[in-house]
Amino acid sequence: MTGRMQRIGILTGGGDCPGLNAVIRAVVRTLGGGSCEVVGIRNGFGGLISQEYVTLDQAAVSGILPRGGTILGSSNRDDPFDFEGTVGDSALNGDVSALVLENTRRAGLDGVVVIGGDGTQFIAHRLSERAYQEGGAFRVVGVPKTIDNDLQATDRTFGFDTAVGICSEAIDRLHTTAESHHRVMWVEVMGRHAGWIALHSGLAAGGDVILIPEIPFRVASVAGAIEDRRRRGKGFSIVVVAEGAIPEGGDPVYLLATDGTRRKSLGGIARIVAEEVERLTGLESRTTILGHVQRGGTPSAFDRVLATRFGVCAAQQVLAGSWNTMAALRGPSVVPVPLVSAVGSQRLVDPLGELVGVARATGVRFGDELGPTD
Ligand code: F6P
Repeated sequence: MTGRMQRIGILTGGGDCPGLNAVIRAVVRTLGGGSCEVVGIRNGFGGLISQEYVTLDQAAVSGILPRGGTILGSSNRDDPFDFEGTVGDSALNGDVSALVLENTRRAGLDGVVVIGGDGTQFIAHRLSERAYQEGGAFRVVGVPKTIDNDLQATDRTFGFDTAVGICSEAIDRLHTTAESHHRVMWVEVMGRHAGWIALHSGLAAGGDVILIPEIPFRVASVAGAIEDRRRRGKGFSIVVVAEGAIPEGGDPVYLLATDGTRRKSLGGIARIVAEEVERLTGLESRTTILGHVQRGGTPSAFDRVLATRFGVCAAQQVLAGSWNTMAALRGPSVVPVPLVSAVGSQRLVDPLGELVGVARATGVRFGDELGPTD
């Protein structure tokens, strides 16, 4: 690959996240010094199926640092190994990974920077394995992304700090109206398998009960916590619920799919538990589901910095030819780690860990405490 300018693709896959544009900008700025041409791939792996590309030069990334979303577009229905969609006039179904590899070659891409979560990095890993088995190459450098902060390979993902800030502010606002009306305010936040957003925002904004997927709860125990507060003269309470929270012996709650797709979206657990607790306590409740507000808008300063560090690290791996790696925060440093280490292992809240301990020590209840009826 020496002698000619490298052509490097970059894509953003899966749910969007504040800080994606900061990564794109950092990659383009680091690579764009004359040794590489950077090509933006539209809408995740979907752009490698439909061959939609955009040139990313310094001008294209000017002014995008504080902008939320992704200038490249994203998709969570773009798995080339299980695809369902149309390209031009043709309907495509099933495994189109061979087409993706062919299009990557046709586009003259020497490597691809893949910004995405667990699912997106897994697809990148599978593509590179398939290419290798066939005697070719799909060279990847990964950048981890998810507001859920649940990737094992990195201490932090960008977007999480922004999401926690948005949730904390929302809970602060719910606090004042809860107090005025002597109500129980339920706020449902994102977190499919991991309760990081609920735990951090609940701690930051003084939630009274925090329900997370890692600690199955009992409705009677949650009601008991709210009753206890009432007995202490607190006529209002704040309950922060991760969307993936589950009752003991129960299942997660999914929203009904309205678009006919196979994808299941979590949501609604807070409302269900709120109604049951209202019946048990007689205290009026209101539920707020924060939803995609948590993912939209400008990234926090912390996330802009972390995203920029990830972008520079990824670009440096490209320049070094250090493929199948991923940028990760380990302690104080951003370092490359093997891409495989990012795949298939989630970083969950430790129910016996320090953060849960801090919450319990300061009076937060998790709905697993024994009540008078247990
Ligand atoms: O992975 C991030 C996340 O925000 C989850 O917490 C949430 O369940 C999911 O994405 C929702 O994404 P979408 O609505 O794009 O499917």
